[in-house]
Amino acid sequence: MAKLICGNCHKVYESSKDGKCPKCEDKSNQFYEFSNSDDYLQEQVPKIKQFRKDIGLQGLVKGLNCVIINTEPEQQDLAVKELLKNTGFNYGHSFQDSNFNTTVLKASNSADILIKSRKKEKNPFHSYNIRPKAKKLPNTRLESFVFEVSNLSKYVEIQKEQDVKFLTNIVDTDNFSFIQTEPSKYIGTSYGFIQWHKNKGDYHPDEFNSFSRDIKKPDFDYLRNIKELDHTATRVKAQDRDAAILEFMKLTNYDFNFAIYVKNLNSITNVARLSAKDFAMVFTSGITNYKNSKESGPTERFTYNYGTRVHHMAFHTNKIEDTFEGLKENGMDFLIQLIGSENEGLKQTFSVQSPHTLIVNEYIHRYGDFDGFFTKSNVTDLTRSTEKQ
Ligand SMILES: [Fe+2]
Repeated sequence: MAKLICGNCHKVYESSKDGKCPKCEDKSNQFYEFSNSDDYLQEQVPKIKQFRKDIGLQGLVKGLNCVIINTEPEQQDLAVKELLKNTGFNYGHSFQDSNFNTTVLKASNSADILIKSRKKEKNPFHSYNIRPKAKKLPNTRLESFVFEVSNLSKYVEIQKEQDVKFLTNIVDTDNFSFIQTEPSKYIGTSYGFIQWHKNKGDYHPDEFNSFSRDIKKPDFDYLRNIKELDHTATRVKAQDRDAAILEFMKLTNYDFNFAIYVKNLNSITNVARLSAKDFAMVFTSGITNYKNSKESGPTERFTYNYGTRVHHMAFHTNKIEDTFEGLKENGMDFLIQLIGSENEGLKQTFSVQSPHTLIVNEYIHRYGDFDGFFTKSNVTDLTRSTEKQ
């Protein structure tokens, strides 16, 4: 039987008295039947676009500047070495401040990747990591998506009026000002916002120690084929899919673009975009909620086992056949072969999950004038391959 979800509190119920949410009776008009479809989302998208204009947010937030991946301290260098070995990213610099050890990785025309570990115990993301298959790495997750803003104080003032909660006040340094939200209850990840004052991409605070790492990027030719961060996919619970996308739209200038349903795997791949050239934000959820490990499909099973989190980082890859072979020869294991074709416009594959970050690498090549972002057949095959996780 179909379940019911409250559009206000997002609780899902088996049934309801008079079509009303028991928790939010005064907002009963927002109570709707729960099995994900795009109806509610498509109705909300234009409203949020208008809302962003009305409150002065339009144009304030630009593209993705970096992602922050936190690791266990003993895994940090291993995570850095692994990304240098398996992607086109290069070693930038390392520094420590009072709270973190940080290594910055860079690639041309791409958001940066910051690999961090905490020097102190307190971790606001900790509770999201305590899941059956993730709790052995209780501090490991992609914690923040950091977007560039043109006027951070104005942005924060507007969002505080909307009751957005931040982890700190604005951190002002000579080089940048930065703030990040509390972890989203829907995705367990925070949204960060940075305004650069001088050297864009130089992330150290005013007080820090540089330290050198004995880390070299392997000189494999095929690594030069692997380019920028194309998209990430965050896995969310079915019941939180609409809320997660709408929250993201309210915090940035991204728009929900389209969704691909894979009904027999209980999975939806939802794409939000800023422009055709920018990093894309993908949310993957179940169509219906988790029931048990046999019936729920790989997407809901993943959020059950690992918590809501970023499942993969996708890297744009040229000469993808050679690159795939090269990665395999140098020890990389994959969840699936290279799938898709030039005819269909797209080839992709998934690596196995990193033991240091819990993130899968996707390698993706779009051919010629292919203007679809994904193809349904590839999405289906890739989703099925994650049953192995
Ligand atoms: Fe993907």
